[in-house]
Amino acid sequence: MNVFKLSDFSCEEINAILDLAEEFKNGKQVDYHRQKSVAFLFFENSTRTHYSFEKAALNLGCVTQNFEAATSSVQKGESLYDTVKLFECIGNDVIVIRHSKNNYFDDLKGIRVPILSGGDGTGNHPTQSLLDLMTIREHFGHFKGLKVAIVGDIAHSRVAHSNYEVMRRLGMEVYMSGPEEYREEGYPYMPFDELVEKMDVIMLLRVQHERHASNMQLTTAQYHERYGMTMARVNRMKDQAIIMHPAPFNRGVEIADEVVECDKSRIFEQMHNGVYVRMALLYMAIEDTKQ
Ligand code: CP
Repeated sequence: MNVFKLSDFSCEEINAILDLAEEFKNGKQVDYHRQKSVAFLFFENSTRTHYSFEKAALNLGCVTQNFEAATSSVQKGESLYDTVKLFECIGNDVIVIRHSKNNYFDDLKGIRVPILSGGDGTGNHPTQSLLDLMTIREHFGHFKGLKVAIVGDIAHSRVAHSNYEVMRRLGMEVYMSGPEEYREEGYPYMPFDELVEKMDVIMLLRVQHERHASNMQLTTAQYHERYGMTMARVNRMKDQAIIMHPAPFNRGVEIADEVVECDKSRIFEQMHNGVYVRMALLYMAIEDTKQ
């Protein structure tokens, strides 16, 4: 079982992954007694995805290997395929990869152990979407009919791209918003101040300076004033509406410091749920290899 993008999974399969994640959150125990090994190959920086994946593996009683590209033979020109093949050859049962190249997994067709993607370039972030979905389902109890806005650097966000596809398939109404320079054709847009009162979920995104030459026309203060979630905007949201952010976040830019931990914020619950969706995927991938 590979997990590269959620568009490869049906709505039923996605709900089954969330059900299993919920079981782990409610105390389901699995212990592989150090008989299974998971390797983490993060070619791009990560804190949440990398370490919550590793925590998930440790919770399941797996051993882990953490690869460091900067001190590896990647520096001698070794290809992605050859690097990943090595981690298969030395006995890992599952490999988790994040890479800055969109669809990097297309280069890995000869790998025989399951690969779980921790994100590919600006393309997909399947485990982030799953933890977002788990957090939404926990709060509302369903997906159908919910109105969701994703706000910020849409063009460079694999979270926006992944979530738009899967959320619509699950019956949510999804809108994009944010600065003109980060817009992407083909998505429905709504001005930020128009959507604040209408949405059930407002998901804020970080400006991804590392993915583009800085073409931002706005100062930090201007961004915050026009697109930032302030307490004044929080107070205009529906009673049951929630605020999400994949993090890392820029306090005082897309989100005010006091909003990060306000009642409507589910940001830290998203991080918490990340461990359970990753436990579910690791468990499914390992069990799948036993078939
Ligand atoms: N949300 C997320 O992917 O965070 P990291 O980049 O820290 O993994």
